[in-house]
Amino acid sequence: MLDLFADTPPWQEPLAPGAVILRRRALANAELLLDQVNQVATRSPFRQMVTPGGYTMSVAMTNCGHVGWTTNQHGYLYASVDPLTGQRWPAMPAAFLALAQACAHEAGYADFQPDACLINRYSPGAKLSLHQDKDEKDQRAPIVSVSLGLPAVFQFGGLKRNDPLQRVLLEHGDVVVWGGESRMFYHGIQPLKEDDHPATGAFRFNLTFRHT
Ligand code: SIN
Ligand code: FE2
Repeated sequence: MLDLFADTPPWQEPLAPGAVILRRRALANAELLLDQVNQVATRSPFRQMVTPGGYTMSVAMTNCGHVGWTTNQHGYLYASVDPLTGQRWPAMPAAFLALAQACAHEAGYADFQPDACLINRYSPGAKLSLHQDKDEKDQRAPIVSVSLGLPAVFQFGGLKRNDPLQRVLLEHGDVVVWGGESRMFYHGIQPLKEDDHPATGAFRFNLTFRHT
């Protein structure tokens, strides 16, 4: 029998032990998600954070949720107050939480309770060097990462910085979930190529959900 649903989004692609790509999983919600990103950014604007080493990051960032990821001269931390505004970060929109929890569940992680959503905005040339997500106290919870807008090459390695890298193109609506064995795997984003996306123009946005 003809399988009419074989290539119907979303579909899953295994990435590594404990890690999976949910292709186009966020596509149906993309417009709403981008609208909420704009609403968050009117209260806590995108800014290029400065690392403890004094380097200005090429990716512009903001946050929503109980706590937000930020930097200061001493290191990286989760803070309940946005250092730019002096106010609490905007609340996590219900649609964000529902999507993150559904994706975690589909990837095999039940009961994901994210309290932080980092929002990254990439413009052409912006990149995220290879790093581990290690600022969270709870390393049993997975990371749920939602890509919107322009495509970017995601690098996914192993526990050691010099482990071989997989390179996968993340497109509008793709979701990556990693946890368990791969929770501490090195990963990064290669410099964004200049292009024009119907939903986001010259930008790529990424939402990363974490239980800190
Ligand atoms: C991250 O590693 O925090 C974000 C990765 C991405 O932008 O896809
Ligand atoms: Fe990361």
